[in-house]
Amino acid sequence: MKIAILPDNEAIGKVGADILASTLKDKPDAVIGLATGSSPLPFYRELIERYKAGEISFAQCKAFTLDEYIGLEPNHPESYVQFIHREFVDHVDFAEGAVKTPNAQTDDLNGAAADYDAAIKDAGGVDFQVLGIGSDGHIAFNEPGDSLASRTHVVFLHDQTRRDNARFFDDDINQVPKEAISQGLGTIQEARKIVLFVQGKGKARAVREMVEGGISARWPASVLQLHPNVYVLADEDAASELELISNYREDWDNFASANL
Ligand code: F6R
Repeated sequence: MKIAILPDNEAIGKVGADILASTLKDKPDAVIGLATGSSPLPFYRELIERYKAGEISFAQCKAFTLDEYIGLEPNHPESYVQFIHREFVDHVDFAEGAVKTPNAQTDDLNGAAADYDAAIKDAGGVDFQVLGIGSDGHIAFNEPGDSLASRTHVVFLHDQTRRDNARFFDDDINQVPKEAISQGLGTIQEARKIVLFVQGKGKARAVREMVEGGISARWPASVLQLHPNVYVLADEDAASELELISNYREDWDNFASANL
């Protein structure tokens, strides 16, 4: 893993955008995996700025979001399809229909999950996957105890995750759906490049377990240790429990001066 410990959200957004810009330079029709939630918002804001400045384009790209709540109307403001359009997609130049989300509006949710994996495969796989991490170590909605090899599937959200997400639902956990369709850890691991955004003290333990803990379903993000091309873009608070923090700073400085 390459770990960048950055001073603020602005720096996190810029480094993430630099990494995506270099992917798009090599492959203008890249397939992008999009996360919702607050962590990647500085990155999306930076991408919108660069698009408006004529520096990048998504016209040839396809995109797949990580997950979608089950039980929300598609026009609910906190459904992930609405979120990703509002915060990012509608501000740049993706072609009509180029951004897909799992279909949670069907009686055949397992079929919809399998179709989603097939659609990602048909698109050639994900070139650049955006991730956040939950305070319990989940990525997408793969909760502690889930299979490290899972494909897109129906998941039950743990109370910790629902409490964390209640801030988007009038601070009322009862309004937070209990289920979602989520890309599996096996699906995510097939992305060619993964960039994970993380901020805040509340994520510090999860970051430590992801980077320095044993690989275990107890902390699902720890599976990323097996991926050859992961970037973790963290602020000081999120990185504060890392034991080898000075090594990561040194490695990142060397990497960034040669590559970014
Ligand atoms: C979002 C997702 C989740 C979030 C995670 C962190 O599509 O799959 O795994 O990335 O819950 O959420 P935030 O960024 O809101 O702290």
